[in-house]
Amino acid sequence: MIPEFPVVPGRELNDGTVMPQFGLGTWLSPKGDVEAAALTAIQLGYRHIDAAWVYGNEAEVGNAVAKAIKDGFVKREQLYLTTKLWNIFHDPKDVDRACDMSLKNLQTDYIDCYLMHCPMHFVGPDDGPALLDESKPACPANGKKPHLIGDADYLDTYKAMEKLVQAGKVKSIGVSNFNIFQLQRILNNCTIKPVVNQIEVHPYLTNDALVNFCQENDVQVMAYSPLGNPSKPVTRVWDENAKTILQDEKLLAMAKKYNKSVAQICIRFGIQRGLILIPKTTNPQRLTENADVFDFALESGEMDTISAMNQNFRVVELPQNVGVRYYPFVDNYSE
Ligand code: A2P
Repeated sequence: MIPEFPVVPGRELNDGTVMPQFGLGTWLSPKGDVEAAALTAIQLGYRHIDAAWVYGNEAEVGNAVAKAIKDGFVKREQLYLTTKLWNIFHDPKDVDRACDMSLKNLQTDYIDCYLMHCPMHFVGPDDGPALLDESKPACPANGKKPHLIGDADYLDTYKAMEKLVQAGKVKSIGVSNFNIFQLQRILNNCTIKPVVNQIEVHPYLTNDALVNFCQENDVQVMAYSPLGNPSKPVTRVWDENAKTILQDEKLLAMAKKYNKSVAQICIRFGIQRGLILIPKTTNPQRLTENADVFDFALESGEMDTISAMNQNFRVVELPQNVGVRYYPFVDNYSE
């Protein structure tokens, strides 16, 4: 039986297509759990799944999509699939086959939105992980070596992605983890405008300047880690004792007022900023909870209060790559 689906509003993209404003993130979701989570999400009414080749779980998303379609829960054209070109495929000659790998994993003949995962070009084995630059010292912050960096210019990579649209393999293209300078450079030189920039946004990283720049240029913002990722992933150095966003007292008070969870307040904050959000979970209760954000609205004063919580606190900081070519998370960046 097909359940009642919550209505998820869409955001119209600059190429005339529409992306559901809310979807399921899959970064760091435990392997083996993603297929069931994605299938449950679709059954609950999620219509947008955000994947990436490098997450190593694209094929699980593909299995869920195939099963949901086979079992009549959804038609392919009712689903929106975003996935990403990983950094080791930035050489323009590698872009087409990288896309083919994602198409195969997702068991689809088109990707709704294909993003360049990051402006940095990493060197890696053909279809394997990125290599580390063993000649460089380990980063004092996290003891990791930087990645081995290739010489592809992200503009040339983007031009190769434009060809995927012309070939019909991809409906829309965009970027992820691009700063203002880098996005402006794409805008100045592209034939097909990027539809989105997928970046980290949450109450402790409101990312105002970049969000405003994107919105002024008709590039939608997809917000990853909208809960500030309470699992404390290794993409930054964490203070063991630091409270997570979900433990923030001001947010807890707002959650109480609306009889919602802090996670729902964070998601609602992003929805009201006009962002496209992709919170991650494989837990069925949380899949339901995170989607249940369309029956209340934060007051403008509450939006201001949350905005003022910004601490420029970046979960995906990658300190080991500070200083490498095109590392994007730098104030006053230029090339
Ligand atoms: P889990 O998969 O165990 O539910 P973000 O999307 O900001 O990166 O955060 C992802 C993390 O947040 C995951 O570790 C996920 O854990 C957890 N999470 C997702 N939804 C909720 C929620 N509603 N309440 C608490 N934690 C959540």
